[in-house]
Amino acid sequence: MNYFMAQFGNPSGTFGRFLSKIMNLSNNKMYKANMKKLNNNMRILEIGHGNGKQLELIKKNKKFVFLYGIDISVDMHNLASKRLGKNANLDVATAEDMPYEDSYFDAVITTDTFYFWDDPSRVMAEIKRVLKQEGLFINAHNTMYASSVGKARKGAGIFKADSLIKEGRRNGLICIFKTKLGLFEEQIIFQKE
Ligand SMILES: C[S@@+](CC[C@H](N)C(=O)[O-])C[C@H]1O[C@@H](n2cnc3c(N)ncnc32)[C@H](O)[C@@H]1O
Repeated sequence: MNYFMAQFGNPSGTFGRFLSKIMNLSNNKMYKANMKKLNNNMRILEIGHGNGKQLELIKKNKKFVFLYGIDISVDMHNLASKRLGKNANLDVATAEDMPYEDSYFDAVITTDTFYFWDDPSRVMAEIKRVLKQEGLFINAHNTMYASSVGKARKGAGIFKADSLIKEGRRNGLICIFKTKLGLFEEQIIFQKE
């Protein structure tokens, strides 16, 4: 993968911090759409939180939420920790192996990340494990970014919504809602079968 794409998948240093702000601007529509599907009083995990902007938005708009986040990037973890302070429990961890007990979350959310996962099948199995029975997995992504990452990764991973839905089904997560949010943005919601 080239340097530019690798930075989106694991932002680091000055350039990574700059990119995280660009991502905030380009992903804002997806943050808002995800937030609309969340309620007060939920325990929520964000996978690949980047600089923490989406978690901050949730904190400002929902009452009595308990926020958690994981990211593989130490620099993004540090940025988000600074932004959110005691308002969120953040860990440097991979979605393939989450540091949480079973049936812990009311919602797991992720924006602009699934095309970077090394083992999507394992991530979907992990999401199913940490979700409560009635919990939601809310994914938002950009189809244009997905296909660019697909080219850069030379087919290692999954890059289409249908493939994510298939991996979900194989791991006990059923797609209950799929919608277009814009020209390139999509949202898919899963629930445990
Ligand atoms: C394109 S950025 C999107 C960041 C953020 N969601 C946003 O919308 O601004 C992808 C993020 O996912 C993180 N990431 C990639 N693969 C991951 C994995 N397997 N587990 C956890 N985080 C991951 C990256 O470090 C990066 O912060």
